Amino acid sequence: MANSKRPTRIGVLTSGGDAPGMNAVIRAIVRTATVQNVSVLGVRRGYSGLIASDMEELTRRSVDRILTAGGTMLYTARCEEMFTDEGVEKAASTCRHMGINGLIVIGGDGSFQGARKLAQKGISVIGIPATIDNDISCTDYSIGFDTACNTAVDCVDKLRDTMQSHERCSVVEIMGRQAGHLALHVGVATGATCILLPERAVDIETDIIEPIRMGRIKGRHHHIIIVAEGYGSAQDIASQVEHSTGIEARVTILGHIQRGGSPSAQDRVIATQMGGHAAELLIAGKSERLVVSKSGDVTDCDMEEGLLQKKDLCHSLFEAAQRVTT
Ligand code: ADP
Ligand code: F6P
Repeated sequence: MANSKRPTRIGVLTSGGDAPGMNAVIRAIVRTATVQNVSVLGVRRGYSGLIASDMEELTRRSVDRILTAGGTMLYTARCEEMFTDEGVEKAASTCRHMGINGLIVIGGDGSFQGARKLAQKGISVIGIPATIDNDISCTDYSIGFDTACNTAVDCVDKLRDTMQSHERCSVVEIMGRQAGHLALHVGVATGATCILLPERAVDIETDIIEPIRMGRIKGRHHHIIIVAEGYGSAQDIASQVEHSTGIEARVTILGHIQRGGSPSAQDRVIATQMGGHAAELLIAGKSERLVVSKSGDVTDCDMEEGLLQKKDLCHSLFEAAQRVTT
């Protein structure tokens, strides 16, 4: 029997903060759907474009050469109107009007809340996690994290050279307003003296100043402190270090450079898997599913359940980092 929920036309949008690999996801969705005679509309600027009906048909050819491109060819946005019922209704009505029977939302947990509201209006939705924060609890991995991590590590390695020459302390702010996953990985990969995360309270004297003093005694001439954006002010930490140790400190805020660049091989591969899986789910008539990576496999889970919990920090990684510092 034919699947009555099988869509003939689907939409795709990118929403929230961009992440390297979003283009690779779009490509995989378009190619997986069109080969099964399902057309794809690319919605510009996230939910703003859905509300304004700003979209274009994507073909196999229009996604040529985007696999390696950073950013998102569809643009992304944060859309206040989606927080109102009128906004959600307008977005759902565009879907009905344009014959979009299913929508794939590429973004973070905020974007998936918007998708759930569209599902309540009868639009089939599938979510794909893409955020450099890697903070979505139901998935081990979110697209963009590996690239952002490598970009940040490359920058900190360069900072280390000049810090070493001047015998200084580098205080580096890593993105992550709510979550320290990126900062933790960057800190471990760069051998940072201290890693400061929003999830962990620290004692300035014991956890920052003392390790620097000890390091100096043991012959270490430079120091790297990684501070997650959500921990607090990198400038305050630098001032404390200078005041308490006499060691010159310099602050670097890596900022949006972490969101740019060509996606790493890992991000291209997982984006291709996740995009294909999402398109297959919609074509099979599924809705309100989140594509996830679990123990190396790409699979899916219920969207509501998947968003219930906050992702825990990897405590064993944090402890391993502490064992090998200074
Ligand atoms: P991310 O998806 O990266 O977590 P945001 O939290 O900024 O990013 O959300 C992106 C967009 O998703 C918002 O600007 C808004 O349009 C939509 N959105 C977020 N939360 C909700 C919500 N609770 N209800 C409806 N739409 C939402
Ligand atoms: O969620 C991704 C992220 O890069 C966070 O790490 C950061 O706190 C935030 O987005 C920055 O957002 P904006 O692009 O609005 O500056």
